[in-house]
Amino acid sequence: MNKIGVIGAGAVGSQLAFLLSLSGVCDEVALVDIKEGLAEGKALDMSQAAPVTGSRCRVSGSDDFSLIEGSDITVMTAGAARRPGMSREDLLKTNLGVVREVSALVKKYAPGTLLIMVTNPLDIMAFAAYVFTGFEPSRVMGMSGVLDTSRYRSFLAAEAGVAPPDTRAMILGPHGDSMVILPEADLGGESADTLIETEVLEGVKTRARSGGKEIVELLRDSSAFFAPAASAACMVKAIAGDSGEVLPCSVYAAGVLDLPEVFIGLPARLGREGIREVVTPDLAPAELKALKDSAADLEKKITSLELK
Ligand code: LAC
Repeated sequence: MNKIGVIGAGAVGSQLAFLLSLSGVCDEVALVDIKEGLAEGKALDMSQAAPVTGSRCRVSGSDDFSLIEGSDITVMTAGAARRPGMSREDLLKTNLGVVREVSALVKKYAPGTLLIMVTNPLDIMAFAAYVFTGFEPSRVMGMSGVLDTSRYRSFLAAEAGVAPPDTRAMILGPHGDSMVILPEADLGGESADTLIETEVLEGVKTRARSGGKEIVELLRDSSAFFAPAASAACMVKAIAGDSGEVLPCSVYAAGVLDLPEVFIGLPARLGREGIREVVTPDLAPAELKALKDSAADLEKKITSLELK
């Protein structure tokens, strides 16, 4: 992939742009933000690191959205972030307006792009971007499950004394308190159930569910950005490298497990075309019910916002 557009030069967007510039997956990163000077300044700062980081990626920044022209992948991080005491849903009204405006600009300047949404509340914003851009469902996806799963894996790893990369787990469903944590988790070749006591494991799951909130409350004037940016970069790498990797992403769910027309976290096989396939998960009745309940709830919200 040659060019990645990053919309929003806040904490997540600028960290993501920098990670991508170091990753070797692209020749060019275009960072845009409506705030004059912000994206340009941050891009300049990143460019000045290249001689010492060894990055050969061109990073540019502007408040003029035409800079994203020709992007193969665009990541939308624009919008307000949570403050302590706020839920992701509290951002709905503000960020829906942002996503409406920005989607029109993406459609205008990068009509052939794949679009990864990061703006919260994630599943609704991913659906909104799908509607506002008119892109095929395979070209629009949300970053949520990769982050939620990464948080969960980091807690599991710490409990079991295993290196974080040697863990496997998966979280599906919405990016919120009712995320669906699949029971199977592999920690360095052993199952989480055998390595971690049931009560402790329940505590780890609870902590994973509120992993974002824990950080907002510590940072106070920002929400998390290192793990969110790394998770978006993970999706970009899977697409750019045409890896065929299956990652939990917020995707168009109609046609899978009889789910309604919403965006919600499901396992998705990623490749250069975007979502190559949504893999139907084999769920136990409890998880299936949790997934369906959340999807029904999302559908109500989408309908009340007149997005369908
Ligand atoms: C979080 C935000 C990005 O989970 O939703 O930290």
